[in-house]
Amino acid sequence: MITGHRGAAALAPENTLAGIKKAVASGIKWIEIDVQLSADNIPVIIHDRTVQRCTNGQGRVGDLNLGELKALDAGSWFAAEFAGETIPTLEEALLACQKYDLNMNLEIKTYCEEAVKPLVDKVIETVGTINFPIEKLLFSSFSAIALAQCQSLYPDVRRGFITETKSADMLEELKPLALYSLHIDHRILDEVLATSIKDTGLKLMIWTLNDPTKIDKYTAWGVDNIITDKPNAF
Ligand code: G3P
Ligand code: MG
Repeated sequence: MITGHRGAAALAPENTLAGIKKAVASGIKWIEIDVQLSADNIPVIIHDRTVQRCTNGQGRVGDLNLGELKALDAGSWFAAEFAGETIPTLEEALLACQKYDLNMNLEIKTYCEEAVKPLVDKVIETVGTINFPIEKLLFSSFSAIALAQCQSLYPDVRRGFITETKSADMLEELKPLALYSLHIDHRILDEVLATSIKDTGLKLMIWTLNDPTKIDKYTAWGVDNIITDKPNAF
């Protein structure tokens, strides 16, 4: 399987509805997007802790309310043709995935520990409000705390742990989370580690691979899902 990273980050401004449309046009069935809370507790789709890199605004996402975030241009920084693109709410992104029959890998971004509980609460509330098909949803996070909360509040939605490090006891330590998948930085994956992950029964995902000539190597190691900025090239 191929997943469009942040929508389709090489083809459209990341984490926007335009990116989701590019993923659809590439013919793929999965997207990955990042969620955080606005100051007024609305889950919004944006990667960084601040809005500077991907909008024409300034400040922390968590210090701006939805109205302030929605007033920003989240497209022009990428290319003029995307001027006027906005930061989507989680609700808008879920509705887009429903419309296009896409699976959503929703990365729960946790820049500080206090933010985890309110974020997971609101994410789960929003998914419930939309009545999004849970078989098309995967919660992922670098935060084991966030995933444990997902597990306790909404155990039926699959969970994936994201990592950019590896340790001998990682797989043992993760067992209580009853994960569906492990999402690992492709640069630290080798065949031995891939085999040990697959032997536990976990699905194996890698990020962020943008060179399609490496597909065969990773699929031979048992990789189930490749997260890429360039879904069209895959
Ligand atoms: O979900 C995998 C990948 O998105 C994790 O890193 O920083 O791109 O959110 P990042
Ligand atoms: Mg991400």
